[in-house]
Amino acid sequence: MAKYFTEPSRTFSEFLLVPGYSSKECTVENVSLKTPVVKFKKGEKPDLEMNIPLTSAVMQAVSDDRMAVALAKEGGISFIYGSQSVESQTTMVARAKAYKAGFVISDSNISPEDTLQDILILKRKTGHSTVAVTTDGTAQGKLVGLVTNRDYRISRMERDTKVSEFMTPLNQLIMAPAGTSLKEANNIIWDNKINQLPIVDKDGRLQYLVFRKDYDNHKENEGELLDKQKRYVIGAGINTRDYMVRVPALVDAGADIFCIDSSEGYSEWQKDTLEWIRNNYGDSVKVGAGNVVDKEGFRFLAESGADFVKVGIGGGSICITREQKGIGRGQASAVIEVAQARNEYFQETGIYIPICSDGGIVYDYHMTLALAMGADFIMLGRYFARFDESPTNKVNINGSYMKEYWGEGSARARNWQRYDMGGDENLSFEEGVDSYVPYAGSLRDNVGLSLKKVKSTMCNCGVLSIPELQENSKITVISTTSLVEGGAHDVLLKDNNLNYK
Ligand code: IMP
Repeated sequence: MAKYFTEPSRTFSEFLLVPGYSSKECTVENVSLKTPVVKFKKGEKPDLEMNIPLTSAVMQAVSDDRMAVALAKEGGISFIYGSQSVESQTTMVARAKAYKAGFVISDSNISPEDTLQDILILKRKTGHSTVAVTTDGTAQGKLVGLVTNRDYRISRMERDTKVSEFMTPLNQLIMAPAGTSLKEANNIIWDNKINQLPIVDKDGRLQYLVFRKDYDNHKENEGELLDKQKRYVIGAGINTRDYMVRVPALVDAGADIFCIDSSEGYSEWQKDTLEWIRNNYGDSVKVGAGNVVDKEGFRFLAESGADFVKVGIGGGSICITREQKGIGRGQASAVIEVAQARNEYFQETGIYIPICSDGGIVYDYHMTLALAMGADFIMLGRYFARFDESPTNKVNINGSYMKEYWGEGSARARNWQRYDMGGDENLSFEEGVDSYVPYAGSLRDNVGLSLKKVKSTMCNCGVLSIPELQENSKITVISTTSLVEGGAHDVLLKDNNLNYK
């Protein structure tokens, strides 16, 4: 007979935290959000921790190298999407790893034969105002000039004007040779009052750009997440099909941690992938697995060698898995049960395997609830897709700015490996939608505000760290009537009264 769960499948909005005693020590400044990312033995320190409990989803519409750098600057990790060729994913990882040192591989490049119109299209796509002009239009072609906003006036010039006619040519550029240190590069920038410095090799090929603004940025990022060589920590998504090729290439490119990205992780394919990684790299390569939603799934991945376990099926904002296939579980119920399994495993073996709550975060307080219920960190797609740093287009829909956001199981992403059950190499039906999300500005501003709320709630609960929150929080299920009580009610809202009933 089928097994029935006694509790209904619940989601975050069905719970609230009940405050605990707050001493005067409980201030936002005193709260630490440090959290383990990979498994560790009792009494030992994990090999990798984050300074904030946030990771960005393994999705085309969310995590590229730009997002990865922006999130690492705040102390979290992006998993650069794997639903692209091995070559382009390794290029993204390498670019993000190169960024930290202040040496940026140029991602806006054009050839001198292209036109002003091409520059405008490129600028819209990348959002960057400095374009490198190289003979072949590639990031490491022979440098022939630079184009910045100062080089053209849209109102005064024809769109078909050739780049070579208005770029700042090589003989007017200040450059530095390969091997220049960051300190020297910054001195050249300051002494010459320039905004960017191209670094070129002995054949005149562009290697990197060093930007004045990065120097200022760097000084602001106290919580940034760095590896031993002071480069940003970067994650990458992998699948259970081509890992024998993809993992070695990504390791060479410098990826710090992997995540097997699958809609359903309680499978032999995940076990094989984990085993292959352990056989070839031992514990030196860190890899998370998932997604699961119950104790059995957790135990299976823990015993198969996962460094962390990702939780969640069917709760993502763009997800239609539950409608299409009738599988999944309310995200809160899933996190609560898997956290229990994680604790039992820890008691039995002395090995703590962090869990990640993936998908379904709508309000900032859902983050606090997920952590209180036992998640060590959280993965978010919709949340990050709204920011400047996500890879998708910003569009104006009926007067409001939106960003595009599509699921990995949508026809647009065609990530068949994520939904693969050993079948054919096509998505026979969709498990995700293509959508818009309201544009929200910069990652830094939004993450700062969200985490301030999380810390403030933790203070109300009388705790100063995530382990304390997990240990001491008091959580209540809410009734539908108290849900109404929780919003503004029985008043006429001044600016939104048409929507108020
Ligand atoms: P969100 O934060 O609620 O938008 O959820 C993001 C999560 O949804 C991702 O981390 C994935 O686990 C999951 N996901 C991504 N694409 C799809 C899809 O097409 N169908 C179902 N789930 C998806």
